[in-house]
Amino acid sequence: MLFGHEKVSFLHLPTPLEYLPSISRDLGVEFYIKRDDLTGLGMGGNKLRKLEYLLYDAQQQGATMLLTQGGAQTNHGRLTAAVAAKYGMRCAILCIDDYPGEVSANILLDRIMGADVILKKSDGRSEDVQFEELTARMVKKYTDEGEKVYVIPVGGSNRVGMLGYYECAREITAQAFAMGISHARLICGVGSLGTYMGLYCGLRGEGSPLHLTGVAISPFGEAKEKRVVSYFNEVRDAFGFDFTACRSDFDIETGYAREGYNKPNAVVRDAIYEMGRKEAIILDPCYTGKAYAGIRDMVREGKIAQGETVIFLHTGGAPGINTPFHRIEMERELLDGVTIL
Ligand SMILES: Cc1ncc(COP(=O)(O)O)c(C=O)c1O
Repeated sequence: MLFGHEKVSFLHLPTPLEYLPSISRDLGVEFYIKRDDLTGLGMGGNKLRKLEYLLYDAQQQGATMLLTQGGAQTNHGRLTAAVAAKYGMRCAILCIDDYPGEVSANILLDRIMGADVILKKSDGRSEDVQFEELTARMVKKYTDEGEKVYVIPVGGSNRVGMLGYYECAREITAQAFAMGISHARLICGVGSLGTYMGLYCGLRGEGSPLHLTGVAISPFGEAKEKRVVSYFNEVRDAFGFDFTACRSDFDIETGYAREGYNKPNAVVRDAIYEMGRKEAIILDPCYTGKAYAGIRDMVREGKIAQGETVIFLHTGGAPGINTPFHRIEMERELLDGVTIL
């Protein structure tokens, strides 16, 4: 129970906190990784912590179906499909996006787990407006079919969803303490903000000595800037936190989004290859590879000091490497090591 909210416990927690010796040596920092890619169901990832709380809420409301939103390769959609499958519910994933050309990566996993995937090409209007219209249409369709639909917003990033990462902040602080880490910088990728906000509130609310830095994985425009503060105020009011924060209290690096959301990038791919070749940990091109590429740049630029202790939150997402437009770029770079006899 957290701030009056219960959850359905389906994860094997805590996830491991591991020291990475090769990356530490190369970067000159003490580098740890928090393995939230190993959260279990549906190939794992950060969204499952949010979904433990969201599922409880859905069950309380008597829902028979989970409906969520995202891009065509949404990891959150895949994990919503996983939870729905496990708990005998229907699932629909609404995407304002182009069809990536084949049923692969997350879309393939969505379909393996039985979710409906509805893709609608953007008509250029604001994504919020398009999602609102599409959601209303699909909720009506499924309601007419007899379902009680529970709608989860993009990334599960609402006040209930962020509780999963409030709890995770406690978990990381306790693990760090047990491993003799007194001060460290915790770094996570920032998409729809729920993970960052949950961690931020959890670290502050629990008096943790860890400092949180976010790395934005898409351009941080005016809407996102406003959303950071309004989201914080919303959860502070809802849960009665006794601390306040303004925009400058949120340490979010916005300069490493490269070409934009989920766009192929050679530096990000290089970061993925490095983590794979040195530590056998698979990052993804949209979130974790991009965040790790940002960390490498921050070390080179001196924003992260030599000798500093860093805990990188691995939020999952590896199925994304099979998205056709990422896979083709990687194939081009990696084919040289494939011998065809
Ligand atoms: C693999 C992965 N990492 C990080 C994030 C970002 O989390 P949030 O949307 O809570 O900011 C996402 C969100 O979709 C994700 O799928």
